[in-house]
Amino acid sequence: MTQFTDLGLSQPVLQALDMKGYTEPTPIQAQAIPRVLEGRDLLGIAQTGTGKTAAFMLPSIDRLRDADKQTPFKSCRMLVLAPTRELAGQIAESAKDYGALAGLKVHSIVGGTSVNKDRNKLHRGTDILVATPGRLLDLIDQKAFRLDGVEVLVLDEADQMLDLGFIHALRKISELVPADRQTLFFSATMPKQIQELVGKYCRNPVKVSVTPESTTAERIDQYLFMVQQDEKQTLLELVLSERHQVPGKFERVLIFARTKHGCDRIVKKLGQSGIPANAIHGNKSQPQRERALDEFKRAKTPILIATDVAARGIDIPGVSHVINYELPNVPEQYVHRIGRTARAGKDGIAIAFCAEDERDYLKDIRKKTDAEFERLPLPDNFRAVVEGVGPTKREPKQRMAKPKVRPTGNAAKAKPKQKHSNRKGKPAGAGQGRPQGGRPGGNRNRHRNRRRSQG
Ligand SMILES: Nc1ncnc2c1ncn2[C@@H]1O[C@H](COP(=O)(O)OP(=O)(O)OP(=O)(O)O)[C@@H](O)[C@H]1O
Ligand SMILES: [Mg+2]
Repeated sequence: MTQFTDLGLSQPVLQALDMKGYTEPTPIQAQAIPRVLEGRDLLGIAQTGTGKTAAFMLPSIDRLRDADKQTPFKSCRMLVLAPTRELAGQIAESAKDYGALAGLKVHSIVGGTSVNKDRNKLHRGTDILVATPGRLLDLIDQKAFRLDGVEVLVLDEADQMLDLGFIHALRKISELVPADRQTLFFSATMPKQIQELVGKYCRNPVKVSVTPESTTAERIDQYLFMVQQDEKQTLLELVLSERHQVPGKFERVLIFARTKHGCDRIVKKLGQSGIPANAIHGNKSQPQRERALDEFKRAKTPILIATDVAARGIDIPGVSHVINYELPNVPEQYVHRIGRTARAGKDGIAIAFCAEDERDYLKDIRKKTDAEFERLPLPDNFRAVVEGVGPTKREPKQRMAKPKVRPTGNAAKAKPKQKHSNRKGKPAGAGQGRPQGGRPGGNRNRHRNRRRSQG
């Protein structure tokens, strides 16, 4: 087994890793770090949650230290671009941790915050800058920042950065960085047509691919409800209130919907049923986004409804379940969404709500990721419950201790709560035939065997 000490990293970086409690490198770190230290351009592909941030940050910190240049005025030595504000902030925090003993200055700049403050803080330059492209270009346009000091350029979530939404900004940025910089691309997915663009931005890159591209993280058990669109809200309420059991014990539940409006609607309806939840999406103010994420992290509000703004890169320990309330129409996005669970060697559960008109998306996801879904049955008398004529009586409105939530309204009309077995929250009876939760470990083992057979 490779150790961090075998990879050629400096003592301050090794000590910082020790402080983080990392004992050994992940496969992408073991493979990418020596090549980045050599100064090679690199395209790194590895599953979600496997430590790609450290794979580019650790060797870059050492290269910056070795080059021993002055921090450039109104510029930076390492530029990391990320697609969302939250991810940029998170990468900057990681850079501070990994570089804690390296004596490098780290800053991040993102939209939705004061541009004047950013201008002031970058006046004297910084060693490492993590940015979203829009804010970076704002500062460049205002002549408050330059890119001529850049020695290392990193595109995290590279396939998204090279896709339509960002490609214009990226073209501009790439014209402003020195031609002899080192360029690093990282993602869990890299569709072929996007990969063809990689060559335009770097020189003879080494490709390090730990698993086949678009592989979902190994430790995620994937389940599926076939459910009509107009039944989804009721199903969600039943599931979150544990009136309809699904595998796994809820800790934090991240729910993806397709639109901002859709997220708000779900939050509102959950609220009406006594289930507190927050939403995060592009129409929320930056303080609202930060508060929602913070309350989710602290498990104060352990249910978060999100658009794809939260699909990529976000690392929150303790996300036990990811629910795709609506399936993404791009299969790669499914890989990133469910990758918010099962990080750093942990297990996780993904549940897809698939309506009739989403079957094609499901087919694409299956084809692209090779994922196996275990189908879960709908609650008894479900249609009657949806239509408000369900068999059980309405319960008085009440809130219960977090993270469990007890609903009122429609959700309260479902069948009474089943007993849990004591194994990982699987429903009682799981293992006897194939009731709701399926065979304990069955899905996971099948999933893993399949991976193994692929080599
Ligand atoms: N060698 C290691 N040992 C233990 N934990 C690690 C190691 N490397 C990274 N981690 C932890 O693993 C988690 C995931 O890391 P990171 O966010 O870099 O994953 P990623 O591969 O970039 O995922 P994504 O594709 O979702 O962006 C983080 O909490 C990080 O602290
Ligand atoms: Mg990442």
